[in-house]
Amino acid sequence: MNQAPELAVHEVDAFYGTSHILYGVDLEVPPGAAVVVLGRNGAGKTTLFKSIMGLGPTVKGEVRLFGENVTKTPAHKLARLGVGYVPDDRRIYAGFDVVENLRLGDYSVGKRDVTPMSTEEIFALFPLLERLESRRGGQLSGGEQQLLAIARALVARPRIMLLDEPSEGLAPVIVNSLVDAIADLRETTGLTMLLAEQNVPFAMRLASHIYVLEQGRMVWNGTKDEFDANPTIKEKHLAV
Ligand SMILES: Nc1ncnc2c1ncn2[C@@H]1O[C@H](COP(=O)(O)OP(=O)(O)OP(=O)(O)O)[C@@H](O)[C@H]1O
Ligand SMILES: [Mg+2]
Repeated sequence: MNQAPELAVHEVDAFYGTSHILYGVDLEVPPGAAVVVLGRNGAGKTTLFKSIMGLGPTVKGEVRLFGENVTKTPAHKLARLGVGYVPDDRRIYAGFDVVENLRLGDYSVGKRDVTPMSTEEIFALFPLLERLESRRGGQLSGGEQQLLAIARALVARPRIMLLDEPSEGLAPVIVNSLVDAIADLRETTGLTMLLAEQNVPFAMRLASHIYVLEQGRMVWNGTKDEFDANPTIKEKHLAV
């Protein structure tokens, strides 16, 4: 039998004002899975993540987290329930140094019985960040900011991580090290993940399950192997 999903989106429609963006979206993230939502620019990936996180769009339908209905629950409350969210714009504070940016993650522990990760633990996971320790956010490259944003989301020991296009805007060599960092993290922590991507090779190196979003509708989903065995899905729905 399948395990109950940690995160489930059921028949979600999303709107910005009168603009109808998502149509009847269903999605399930089983425990320990790495689910990737693939879709072109404007497909609705960020809108889906913001709908889950209670960050703007008007949502119809249902979002369930660890079995509880959390539809329209605001982001800061979801963080305290154990969701680590890394938005597409990363939200690194330019005037704070690396450690100050990291420690902002402490606020997401909430009432869960967990001790936030120490700066040393984070540096053990991401040695690059230790070398950048005293730099300010505004002095980091895009890839360094992305690592810092992921690290900050890990501080509160989330049960599930949502990463919105982590590879966006990064040079290929940085994307490779990001894949390695995320893969290591999954191996050591077994953390459940939901990622949005349009970089298919990047997604393929991390995904256990894939969903394809096209103009606000989920048009396909399956395992990574099913996706691999189906070249037409890539040609038809993704820019490859
Ligand atoms: N605040 C907003 N108000 C109105 N429409 C919006 C808003 N944000 C996004 N949209 C529209 O919603 C649609 C989906 O956008 P969204 O950002 O979710 O796509 P995406 O898949 O994340 O794209 P990208 O890969 O470029 O990040 C687009 O047509 C976009 O123009
Ligand atoms: Mg987006």
